[in-house]
Amino acid sequence: MENSRTTLKKIREAKATGEKLTMITAYDYPGAQLAEAAGVDMILVGDSLGNVVLGYETTLPVTMDDMVHHTKAVARGNKTALVVADMPFLSYQVSIEEAVKNAGRLMQEGGAHAVKLEGGRDVVPIVRRLTSAGIPVMGHLGFTPQSVHQLGGFLMQGKSAQAAKDLLDDAKALEEAGAFAVVLELVPAEVAAAITRRLNIPTIGIGSGPACDGQVQVFHDVLGLNASFTPRHAKRYAELYAVGSRALSEYVAEVRSGQFPGPEQTRQMQDEEKAEFLRLLGLEEGKEA
Ligand code: KIV
Repeated sequence: MENSRTTLKKIREAKATGEKLTMITAYDYPGAQLAEAAGVDMILVGDSLGNVVLGYETTLPVTMDDMVHHTKAVARGNKTALVVADMPFLSYQVSIEEAVKNAGRLMQEGGAHAVKLEGGRDVVPIVRRLTSAGIPVMGHLGFTPQSVHQLGGFLMQGKSAQAAKDLLDDAKALEEAGAFAVVLELVPAEVAAAITRRLNIPTIGIGSGPACDGQVQVFHDVLGLNASFTPRHAKRYAELYAVGSRALSEYVAEVRSGQFPGPEQTRQMQDEEKAEFLRLLGLEEGKEA
């Protein structure tokens, strides 16, 4: 896609023309700048924030305040991508009124252009209400991290024929409710392909094979910012943890040895100010202050 801001119209056109959509998570200002420089179509301020930035085991502890805070930073670092902010656990399940208020916060305070929420036919009334309030909604099906305990772990979904059919029905229900796209996470490739063929809105895959209309990945996974863990569906395009760790070790060693800061990182006083400083200290010229 070209360099102007990604809009819902462009996303619809991409589905029609078969142009692949690109999406990456970001959680802060430099992350958003990097994503924008790479020309990504959409940035997801994912509640994976909880795992990769805040150090939680799951996404469940992430709050609305966390999401607003990080969405603001991403919005400041990006002018071209569509910013989608995740609605965190319990920010939309309690009541439709709460969902509207919280989605509104992500857009009004956070600067998001759209929100994402997890679930299928169960969340249709929420999706309808949000979209009728002018809030673009991205759905999220398959492995839904906010239900990790109910699903019994980080597991592939839609593996049986019936589960695959249920996913398709969920995806169609989200489309009918007004969602502009749907994330398919950890779904067998054939199932993701079948859903993609039957929807008029784009599917954005993560761990769901190449037939989806677009792909989303977690920033830290593709840049190798995790010390060790990489999900099977992710490809490490760089090893930034190793690069960063080497650089920081060098910094620590140079501070300890006195090599840093060197002359290039150091500024001196002007001669006359230095002379006056010595005079004020009652010292002779040529002495050390
Ligand atoms: O929070 C997140 O990063 C996500 C992606 C895994 C799709 O929801």
